[in-house]
Order: sequence, then C-alpha cells, then structure tokens
Amino acid sequence: MKVVVSIGGSVLVPEPGADRVAEHAAVIEDLISEGCRIGAVVGGGGVAREYIGAARDLGANEIELDQLGIDVTRLNARLLIAALSEESVTAPALDYEEASEALRRDDICIMGGVAPAQTTDAVGAALAEYIDADLLIYATSVPGVYSADPNKDADATKHDRLSATALVDAIAGLEMNAGASAPVDLLAAKIIERSGMRTIVLDGTDPDRIARAVRHGDHEGTDIVPDGAGAEPTYWASDER
Ligand code: UTP
Repeated sequence: MKVVVSIGGSVLVPEPGADRVAEHAAVIEDLISEGCRIGAVVGGGGVAREYIGAARDLGANEIELDQLGIDVTRLNARLLIAALSEESVTAPALDYEEASEALRRDDICIMGGVAPAQTTDAVGAALAEYIDADLLIYATSVPGVYSADPNKDADATKHDRLSATALVDAIAGLEMNAGASAPVDLLAAKIIERSGMRTIVLDGTDPDRIARAVRHGDHEGTDIVPDGAGAEPTYWASDER
C-alpha cells in the first residue's frame, strides 16, 4: 500500500524541539516495517509564518515570500530526515520525479514545498496523484473539515465523510471568508477531485492517529471519498498493509 502523509508544520514542529518529530518518524518507520511505502510532505508552520512576516515587512514580494516559505518547509523536512534511520534519504526531494525515484528504490520519500503560489497541501495531493498512492492523509492541527470556521461559528459541524466535489465546495466556501483558514487548500481539493484520491483529513497532533488511519481506516477526522467509490478499500480488511 502506497500512502502520502502531508504533515502540517505546526503539527510536526509546534515549537522547536525533538520529541514530536521523533514520534512522527517512529510512526513512519513502523508503517514501513509493516510493508507500506510512504511519501511524507512537510509544511512550514509557525517558523515559516514568522520568516514570511519579517520579509514582508522588509519589502519582499509575494514570490520571494513563497520561496522563503519553501525553504522553511525543506528545513522541517530535514528535521524529519534527521529523526529517521540512516537508511532513509539524506535530503528532501526537490520535485515529484525525485520523490518518485526514491520510492522506487524503496526509500522513504520526504518533500517540502516545490513551487511558489501554493502550499504543501497541494504538494501532498500532487505527489499522491503522481505516485498513484492508495491513500492521502492530511495530518493537520484541526480535527477535520468543518461546515464553517469552528473558531468563529458555534454552529459549525465536522463532516465525517465528503465526496471530493463536496470538499471543493466546502473549501471554496471557507476560503471566501477572509481570515478563515481551511484545513486543506482549494488547489489541493481540486487535485483530489480530479485524481479521485481517497483522502483523510485528521488531527495529527498525536501521530498514532495517522498509524491507525493507515492500518484500518480508523479515525475521527473527515473521509474524502472519490465520486462513485464503493465500499472502503479492501487493504483495510486484508493482511496486505
Ligand atoms: P505551508 O504548506 O506550511 O503553508 O507552506 P501554510 O498554509 O502556512 O501551512 P498550514 O497548512 O497552515 O500548516 C508555507 C509557505 O511556503 C510557501 C507558501 O508561501 C506557504 O504559505 N510554499 C509552500 C510555496 O510557495 N510553495 C509550496 O509548494 C509550498
């Protein structure tokens, strides 16, 4: 089973420190030892926001800010690599081809951002599409996809299950609200829709939740099911993991 895990920067590195990174690395290595092939995409988190804020104050333009953000995602990716065993790759893949080659060699593939004007949400979806993954998991700092911004709307409810098209509509609605941050961005949702990728959005602050979702499809987040998909994947019921 091929899985892409997109780990938000604030999930992997909520504050400078080794513990959370080590826990995520341990989960990835456990899944690999059980036969999974894993691509991990790492976000920039608070550090990226601080650097981008400082550079904006210094007059950098949006593309320059994105480049800075990409550099920070790659720094976080290096932190994850540092926590993995010595058999893993030595540096983050810079593009999808490099990432895919690592997987073909049976290496773990680790990436940060790749190009300006997007976020690592889209990188995760594109990598999953490119390597033809069985499952894409967004490990975010929120419990799933909500009907509205739960920080602002007391009536917001979490979706347990959404079609990919309904995800695009839900995210587009959230992004129309200035300041509301969707757990997955619109470009990522569009890639998920076109690729028909089975996707889970969950709270990844406890990395064991990622392991449970990969092994058994068991989670409390939001399932994004491709349009026309039938029952859940057979690999969740079989020994093939
Ligand atoms: P993130 O993916 O961490 O974005 O990339 P984010 O939306 O701030 O993260 P979450 O989802 O809330 O955790 C950090 C920044 O890096 C740039 C963007 O500026 C992004 O905001 N970036 C990242 C790119 O320009 N291209 C990429 O492929 C990835």
